[in-house]
Amino acid sequence: MTKESFGTLKDTTQIDRIRLRAGRASCTILTYGAALQSLSVPDKAGAQRDILLGYDTIEEYIANDGYLGAVVGRYANRIANGRFSLNGKDYSLACNDNANHLHGGKLGFSMRVWRIDALTDSSVTLSLDSADGEEGYPGAMHISVCYTLTDSALRLRYEAVSDRDTVCNLTNHAYFNLNGHAAGSVLAHQIQILASQFTPADVGSIPTGELAPVAGTPMDLRKPTKIGAHIADAYEPLKQAKGYDHNYVLDDSLESLHPAARVFSEESGIELLVRTTMPGVQFYTANYLSHRNGKGGAIYEPRYGFCLETQYFPNSPNEPAFPSATLRASQKYAHTTEYAFTTQKA
Ligand code: BGC
Repeated sequence: MTKESFGTLKDTTQIDRIRLRAGRASCTILTYGAALQSLSVPDKAGAQRDILLGYDTIEEYIANDGYLGAVVGRYANRIANGRFSLNGKDYSLACNDNANHLHGGKLGFSMRVWRIDALTDSSVTLSLDSADGEEGYPGAMHISVCYTLTDSALRLRYEAVSDRDTVCNLTNHAYFNLNGHAAGSVLAHQIQILASQFTPADVGSIPTGELAPVAGTPMDLRKPTKIGAHIADAYEPLKQAKGYDHNYVLDDSLESLHPAARVFSEESGIELLVRTTMPGVQFYTANYLSHRNGKGGAIYEPRYGFCLETQYFPNSPNEPAFPSATLRASQKYAHTTEYAFTTQKA
C-alpha cells in the first residue's frame, strides 16, 4: 500500500492518493470525493489495462462535473424540484440540475475531503461527517466507505448513521472502459442487465413513477447485447436522455448481494460483473461527457465510458411505491457493491 500527496485545495487542505494492490490488480483512490481514480487489471494478452476514466490532477477533480469515480451522496441521482417530505415536514434541497437536486447538491460527498480511518495493502476505509441541514437534508450523519481489492474484485461497503430520520442513497460514479480508459468508444462492449423493468422518466430525468417492462424495447438488455446495438434507435426514452441514462429495476432485489449487470469486451477479453445489495442500477453511457482532458493526455467524449450506478431509484423520497431510501435515526444504512473482473485467455 502506498499513500502519497495528490496536491492541495485552495485552503491548503492536503489531498492524498492511496494505492491498493492484490495479485495483478491495483487501484488508486483519492481522499477528495473518495474517488476511484484508476483500476488496473490484466487483459487477455497478459498486459495491464487501466479500465477506469479519471484525471491526473486535483484541479480537474475539483472541476469534475461528470463525477468521475466519485462517491456521490447524500442522495445519488435526482430528487424532483429538490423537495420531499418526511414525518410530515417539508424539506427543500439545493438544486443543481436545472430545477432538480442531483447527486447530493452543490457540495455533495463527491466534492468533500474524506478522512482515512484504516489502511492496509488491499483495503482502505474513508469517512465523512455531514452536518444537520447540509444541502437541505435533515440529520447529522456519519458516512464511511470501505474499498477492498482482491485479485479478481473491488468491493465497496458503504455505511451511514444519522441522528435524525433522513434519506440516504450512496453510490460510486465510476466510468469504465474495458479496453482501457483511453481506448475510445464502448459501443462494441456487450452488456447484460438483469432487469425486466425500468423507470421511465420525464425530460428532466425524473421518473414518472411507472415501472415499465423492457420487453420489446431497446431497453431490453437481459441477454448480452452490444451497447451500440440500439442506442441510436428512434425510441423516445433514449432520444430524450441522449443515450442510456436510465434506472433499471433489478429482478433480484434481495438485500443480499445479487447480480446486477455483466459487461464484456472481446477486444481486451476483460469482463466486469457488478453485484449489489441495492434494488436499482443507473446505466449511463457518458452522454454528457464531452471533450474532457483525462489521464495521460486522453480525451474523453460521449460513449467513451459507461457507468453502472447501483442505487435506490431516482426520486424515491417522492414515490411511496418505490423501495424506500428513508434512513431512520435508529438504523444503519449499509450497502455493498462489488465489481468483479475476469479475463478470458487469448
Ligand atoms: C445521471 C446523468 C448525469 C450524470 C452526471 C448520472 O448519474 O443519471 O443524468 O448527467 O450522472 O455525470
